[in-house]
Amino acid sequence: MQEQDTYYLNEICTQNALYTQQTGRKKKCLTHTFGCQMNERDSEILFGFLAQMGYEKTDIEAEADLVLFNTCCIREKAESKVLSHLGELKKLKQKNPDMIIGVCGCMMQQKGMADMIRSSAPYVDLIFGTHNLHHFPKYLYDVYQGKGRQIEVLDKEEGVQEGLPSYREYPFKALVNIVYGCNNFCTYCIVPYVRGRERSRKQADIVQEVKQLVADGVVEITLLGQNVNSYGLDLQDGTTFAGLLQELDQIEGLRRIRYMTSHPKDLTEELVKTIAESSKVVDHFHLPVQSGSSRVLDLMNRRYTKEHYLHLIDMIRKYMPDAAISTDIIVGFPGETEEDFLETIDLVQKVKFDSAFTFVYSKRTGTPAARMEDPTSLEEKKERLQRLNDALSDISRDINDKLQDTVVEVLVEGPSKTNEAMLSGRTTTNKTVIFAGEPSLIGQIVSVKITEAQTWILKGALAE
Ligand code: SAH
Ligand code: SF4
Ligand code: F3S
Repeated sequence: MQEQDTYYLNEICTQNALYTQQTGRKKKCLTHTFGCQMNERDSEILFGFLAQMGYEKTDIEAEADLVLFNTCCIREKAESKVLSHLGELKKLKQKNPDMIIGVCGCMMQQKGMADMIRSSAPYVDLIFGTHNLHHFPKYLYDVYQGKGRQIEVLDKEEGVQEGLPSYREYPFKALVNIVYGCNNFCTYCIVPYVRGRERSRKQADIVQEVKQLVADGVVEITLLGQNVNSYGLDLQDGTTFAGLLQELDQIEGLRRIRYMTSHPKDLTEELVKTIAESSKVVDHFHLPVQSGSSRVLDLMNRRYTKEHYLHLIDMIRKYMPDAAISTDIIVGFPGETEEDFLETIDLVQKVKFDSAFTFVYSKRTGTPAARMEDPTSLEEKKERLQRLNDALSDISRDINDKLQDTVVEVLVEGPSKTNEAMLSGRTTTNKTVIFAGEPSLIGQIVSVKITEAQTWILKGALAE
């Protein structure tokens, strides 16, 4: 952490302590996090700052002294969600003029967006981007000093920041950044424009962080990068993702290593072998294919073909026959024909994915695909999405049916979202299992016998 940021953090901490002395209450804060796990991790850092400044967390907007929006712009829907929610805060701010509202994250890194918020939402006090998240204490300090609205978005990343504070949601699992940014420029995607170029953390820093997490009780880590397979290459010192996994696999007390996301163009046999030989790396590959048409894949700049992807699947099955495979798919990319779409359906039938995130293509201004001819109607695209989802759920159901009566190892994560009285956890293959048990099991890995297989979840009972 940079010295000046520490200074501002301490200053706010002193001010807040005084406030508590005078009023008998602690200031409260709330963060709305949109988008992917990168943003979730960034919000943990923002909360880390806030906790050190003496803020208390709240889930109730009306009692918050500070509300932060950590935004996402991957698809239009993500953006409109942010804007409509932000609009609602206007009324709260009218009631409580002392409330501070901040907006940060990927959406702010887009050209013109910070200016748009500046003019259309005058009740927003601070705006910053993904590249200067670590200067948050300074911006907040300046707002408190009465210096007016603080708006700063940097065009370029400032390298890798180590030693930032963090407030982690779960005591037993943790997100760990390994590489920031993206160099791939898939033609539909905004991420390279809002997250900058690839920057890997040093292996020693990651290993040290994970050891500390394990000492604090963490048993499962998820390594984060837009393309974890290219981790280390920018360091030019021989660091690789396979090497990192081997090192982390040695850490005593750590039970599971997950990672997101693996780009098919960089998945090598050496890496699959490393994963197969490791004892802690999970039996799950999330390998976004995006399309089954080699023609569309080329237009998307994915740099692999349908055949190559199928070859990778064979390779995974050869070394790890029981591993689950999931994916991301976009339907309705500009110019996608019915024939192209049927190639996607064909690929899905051949691979037999355990699960998939599916999206209708969303035009992102500034990306190459936004300039491509797109004659297909939204209605037709939605219809394709439905057909794809139907095919995927049939396959998923068949795969899950085979798990009936088997015993699986589950990391218990908490009460089930659909039934508070039940526990929910995940298998190494990333399947959600719901079963009855004591809350004291949360954070532990237990054996569960599957009693009822459904399409997206498994129901079970604790095994003897
Ligand atoms: N780095 C990851 C993906 C990050 S974004 C990877 O390459 O796999 C997560 C998913 O959002 C992508 O895999 C893609 O399926 C989807 N996505 C990205 N941009 C999109 C767009 N413009 N429209 C629709 N879906 C999009
Ligand atoms: Fe976007 Fe492609 Fe980078 Fe993934 S690899 S973040 S889809 S540009
Ligand atoms: Fe969204 Fe940014 Fe993630 S655009 S998906 S929050 S990297």
